Amino acid sequence: MNCDRRQMMGTLAALALGACSTKPASETSSTSNAPSPTMKKDSFGKLPDGSAVDLFTLTNAGAFSVAITNYGGRITSIKFPDKNGKVADVVLGFDTVDGYVADNPYFGALIGRYGNRIGHAQFKLDGKTYKLEANDNGNSLHGGKKGFDKVLWTAKDVSTKDLPALELTYVSKDGEEGYPGTLTSVVTYSLSPANELKIDYHATTDKNTVLNLTNHAYYNLAGAGEGDILGHHMMITASKFTPVDKTLIPTGELKSLDGSPLDFREAKAIGERIDANDEQLKFGKGYDHNYVLDAKGGTLTQCAMVHEPKSGRMMEVLTTQPGLQFYTGNFLDGTIKGKGGKVYGHRGAFCLETQHFPDSPNKPSFPTAELKPGETYQQTTVYKFSAM
Ligand code: GLA
Repeated sequence: MNCDRRQMMGTLAALALGACSTKPASETSSTSNAPSPTMKKDSFGKLPDGSAVDLFTLTNAGAFSVAITNYGGRITSIKFPDKNGKVADVVLGFDTVDGYVADNPYFGALIGRYGNRIGHAQFKLDGKTYKLEANDNGNSLHGGKKGFDKVLWTAKDVSTKDLPALELTYVSKDGEEGYPGTLTSVVTYSLSPANELKIDYHATTDKNTVLNLTNHAYYNLAGAGEGDILGHHMMITASKFTPVDKTLIPTGELKSLDGSPLDFREAKAIGERIDANDEQLKFGKGYDHNYVLDAKGGTLTQCAMVHEPKSGRMMEVLTTQPGLQFYTGNFLDGTIKGKGGKVYGHRGAFCLETQHFPDSPNKPSFPTAELKPGETYQQTTVYKFSAM
């Protein structure tokens, strides 16, 4: 994090500045007794077709651990201490794979081929129209009926001495869910000694295609199932967003956030303006919008910071992507019981999905989401956790 930006960023940045001086977990334990980073593999149950599903738990040299299943490449837990050293799990999810199969608002999932919506469930590429599964008000959401969140990925332990790392590969067939080209996606999750979860995405294709990979973890820094996230303070480094119509498809405009309740350039409690009298907030039933990041994409840059005042837990997001979907769990309604039987209520979590803009294949003015044979799609997102 760039510690010189304190004055520009307000309260939250000041807190983050403290985080800059927080020692990484590996440095806080004595070298002789410091545990080595580990990766543990356990059974996570079976899919209805009998396929075995695994759970991989990555732990750094400190008290930071992340569990990932090869079903949908889903993050099932992220555990780290609060300001008093109390460890909690900060992502929503289920104890076994059955929960993910039965109740599926994309908890923790890798999303593909196309994160968020494609309008009218179709797009044109090289003069040809491709029809997709319309699974959301006539639009296609998160890759269709059986997106990357519902497939089994092939897992490989690629840990090094200092970094526990899990590589997941999925080969999507030409025409799968309506998308052209055989698409090979390789996603690597790794944990750093500084309590960072890094997600590297790579993909190649054998025909011209479009894609938008992301991760859809639902965060509550007070702990999953510990109430709503309205008291969390959020900061997003974006001066524009992509306004949507009532079916949440972008209009194509890049709109200034000046004077808008969607503006998070200065840290604000999520709940402060979430029910403001604003058409965009009404369409989203809260925040469910793509932010046009000031950094424009390409280099790994900080785009968001979140702080939960009671626990002191904090999350920073860095990405190479041009957009960020900020979603406040508006569709959670208290009907889902997750890990340990905890109820996930309305706005009980937020998502920060780094991405290309929704509906880019139908919006030539947006940064392109096309991938051609011979090219490599590559993007990195880092979620960094601390407490103060
Ligand atoms: C994304 C979308 C939301 C919703 C969630 C999943 O964040 O933008 O509208 O579909 O996924 O429930």
